[in-house]
Amino acid sequence: MTKNGRQAGAKDRGGPAPRRRLCAPVVPANIIGGALVFLFTYKLFTTSPFESITVHEAPDDPVQRRYRGAFVEVSKRSHAYLQQALWDRQPGSYTHNVSARYEPADEAAVRELAQPSFYLDLIRRDLLPWKDSGITHELVERSSMMFDDCDGDMLRFQVLNGSLWVHHITERLEGGWYPAPIGPGNAAAKGRVPYAVLALMETLRMFPGQIPDVDAILHFADFPCIPRPRAGAPPAPILGLQGSAHHSDIPFSDYTYWGHEHQYLQDPWGKPAHGWGNQAEVLARKYENVSLLDRIPQASWRGRTKDNRYPERDHLRRVFVGCVDKLKEAGRGEDAALLNVLSPPLALQDSCDYRYSVYIESQAYASNLKQKMVCGSVLVAPRMEYWDFYTRAMRPGVEYVEMVNVTRDMNAAFGSLGREALASSGQLTPTLARELKEMRRDPLLAALLARSGAGGSTGSKSRKSGGGKGGKSGEDVQPPARGPDGNYSWGSGAMPWEIAATGQQFIQRHVRMQDVLSYIRDLLRAYSAMQRHAIRPSANLEGAARCYTGDMLLQEFGTPHQVDRDIVAAAYPWLKGYDNGCREAEAVYKPR
Ligand SMILES: *[C@@H]1O[C@H](CO)[C@@H](O)[C@H](O)[C@H]1NC(C)=O
Ligand SMILES: *[C@@H]1O[C@H](CO)[C@@H](O)[C@H](O)[C@H]1NC(C)=O
Ligand SMILES: *[C@@H]1O[C@H](CO)[C@@H](O)[C@H](O)[C@H]1NC(C)=O
Ligand SMILES: *[C@@H]1O[C@H](CO)[C@@H](O)[C@H](O)[C@H]1NC(C)=O
Ligand SMILES: *[C@@H]1O[C@H](CO)[C@@H](O)[C@H](O)[C@H]1NC(C)=O
Repeated sequence: MTKNGRQAGAKDRGGPAPRRRLCAPVVPANIIGGALVFLFTYKLFTTSPFESITVHEAPDDPVQRRYRGAFVEVSKRSHAYLQQALWDRQPGSYTHNVSARYEPADEAAVRELAQPSFYLDLIRRDLLPWKDSGITHELVERSSMMFDDCDGDMLRFQVLNGSLWVHHITERLEGGWYPAPIGPGNAAAKGRVPYAVLALMETLRMFPGQIPDVDAILHFADFPCIPRPRAGAPPAPILGLQGSAHHSDIPFSDYTYWGHEHQYLQDPWGKPAHGWGNQAEVLARKYENVSLLDRIPQASWRGRTKDNRYPERDHLRRVFVGCVDKLKEAGRGEDAALLNVLSPPLALQDSCDYRYSVYIESQAYASNLKQKMVCGSVLVAPRMEYWDFYTRAMRPGVEYVEMVNVTRDMNAAFGSLGREALASSGQLTPTLARELKEMRRDPLLAALLARSGAGGSTGSKSRKSGGGKGGKSGEDVQPPARGPDGNYSWGSGAMPWEIAATGQQFIQRHVRMQDVLSYIRDLLRAYSAMQRHAIRPSANLEGAARCYTGDMLLQEFGTPHQVDRDIVAAAYPWLKGYDNGCREAEAVYKPR
């Protein structure tokens, strides 16, 4: 049932390798960004979800101990200063009862959740391959056998009269993927899998009576896996973490909306902010008074540049990182200084210390796009051929810019028109203050700050930035010129700070948890409408679907580490004792 290792296959994932001129003419134009801070995605397969974070101090705290081994070290108190601004929150606000943020507490929220998904057109487009054939039992069966091609955990689920049945988790063993039942004892499926079950369960809970019966396959690999057919027979219908220009995988939401794995963001009390709603709030509030004018005027990127398991995948990233040296070798130190890659260490939660955040995909989407945008810097994403459910609704020149090589021009806009349009608030984050101080020691970087209006060089009082003796205030910078089409070099007539704000608003209006939930609801509804078979709980030689209750899910989170279960139980207290209609459903439905 399995083939041997997939390493060799990694390079042909994601369609044709991009062949574009990089490092031209100022800075790489076509590199795209992926992960920022959390690079070790491959660890997801083998480690407990909460294992990849280091928090200092509190070595006796079992929860804190679990975060050892982090890639980026974050001081436990790095957001303590936000307690004042988040006066209406308290310890536990970002770790307990996460669903309370989007449970309809008032009529407005109820009306909002009743709206069709903002992404309905995309949902319909993604399901077009099955418009004529429908989704048949045979097609779903075919999808269920694709786990080796997809190279990741996979599950089959049914929605039956509102209850959720889960079956056919595959597990990585020596040499490939094998069917394995979900449940205690199967630790392979940590992280992505139970969070997907949580996403489904939560959607059913939020929209009772609104999700018709469904029989679908969901896979969790890093890569999309069903090549887009040229014509003819419909592809195997499969839900995954992402879609792509070259694949027909249907994007589902990923685990990062529900938990905090690999997206470690600290709340003001030093705990990981659990769930995207909480993370979005911390990030937006953290930077609300940090003027773009004061942020470091460089394009920053952090991430994995080599994945031992899939050595080909980070090619674009390596080229991008290599550009810095190439520019320096070519005597273009000023251009090289516009890029800030790999070091110093930068946590995702600090990424908006930089004015521009680069997003580089790696033959796969990266889940931290939303975090990079919500804190309000300019997103630079030259190519997005892999997408999360919302990505395609964003427009270059409106919500983000496509080219890294326009950083210089955008800085000129900040250094001229920006000085008028934006005030320096003088409020810096602690890491930003430190970094700016460091930069002023280097003449090249100090000049960059002055030219781009950054780092308190506007002459305003800079409370925490060390006296503002950095930039020569008032340096005469020419605003960038518009092209014949009226656009600036960054592909838009809008100023970079306007693009940053539009991007942030897009996330805040269309990528809230409400939007994730209504997306899943409408996706399941549209998928269900295409089904041509009567839905039953599935069964095969390896096992059968089981109706999933909240307690079963908690047990799954708790394998093998009880502390993981405790964290999730606090975040989603409704799970405990939640029957999800199983008692009735089990009397009616039998797996076959
Ligand atoms: C940036 O790179 C793109 C693609 O290579 C090129 O078309 C564009 O002219 C460059 N822009 C600037 C300002 O150099
Ligand atoms: C931003 O400024 C407002 C108004 O002065 C203030 O109420 C708020 O607490 C500030 N936010 C942060 C994060 O400092
Ligand atoms: C969680 O929040 C909801 C409000 O949305 C409330 O009804 C419920 O009692 C809370 N649960 C706990 C355990 O605090
Ligand atoms: C579906 O669920 C509803 C409410 O739980 C129940 O009244 C009904 O009998 C169920 N229908 C079937 C076919 O099980
Ligand atoms: C100018 O920018 C807008 C986005 O603001 C974009 O839609 C349009 O295509 C651009 N024009 C050209 C010729 O690139």
